[in-house]
Amino acid sequence: MSTQMEILIDQETISKRVAALGAQITSDYENSGRPLIVICVLKGAMIFMSDLVRVIDVPLQMEVIVASSYGSEQQSSGIVKLEYQSFEALAGADVIVVDDISDSGRTLKRIAHTLAAYEPNSVRSCVLLDKPSRREVECKAKYIGFEIPDAFVVGYGLDYAGQYRELPDIMVITELENE
Ligand code: IMP
Ligand code: MG
Repeated sequence: MSTQMEILIDQETISKRVAALGAQITSDYENSGRPLIVICVLKGAMIFMSDLVRVIDVPLQMEVIVASSYGSEQQSSGIVKLEYQSFEALAGADVIVVDDISDSGRTLKRIAHTLAAYEPNSVRSCVLLDKPSRREVECKAKYIGFEIPDAFVVGYGLDYAGQYRELPDIMVITELENE
């Protein structure tokens, strides 16, 4: 097996798009009068989240939730596991769940369902990447960085079997069978 990597979205393009998302979120929430809580879905969203919160010009609080559905494969197992502390502060707040990518839609749907029990005023999702052609459950993020085709991508927080999260660009990774 050999691994081929090709840039899909470079770091400058990512940075401009993140700035635009931050501006959009700022204008949507700046006069809400309610607390804004931004929840990072670990581990994939940690780099996106850290760039995004620094371009949102509204006071906010940060929380994390750990979600896993992939083993070391490129296909999701279909079962989403969540780990999180109690979210009592969510009552009455506006919540934005930040994830790296929406694929089948299961992770974001499951998280939104879990958070609803804490009675927030609103819950929206923000994803850097969306693969709409892969959707299996109905779940539409309010804020989307880029729509991408059905390819497996790594970098800017996204991994393949735990690797490549630190790459600054988003890259398509393909495993090639050697002749
Ligand atoms: P979903 O629950 O099927 O929407 O999957 C969402 C999760 O799957 C994301 O948070 C990612 O961790 C992972 N994922 C989906 N597609 C990719 C990809 O192309 N590269 C890396 N991780 C991915
Ligand atoms: Mg993830």
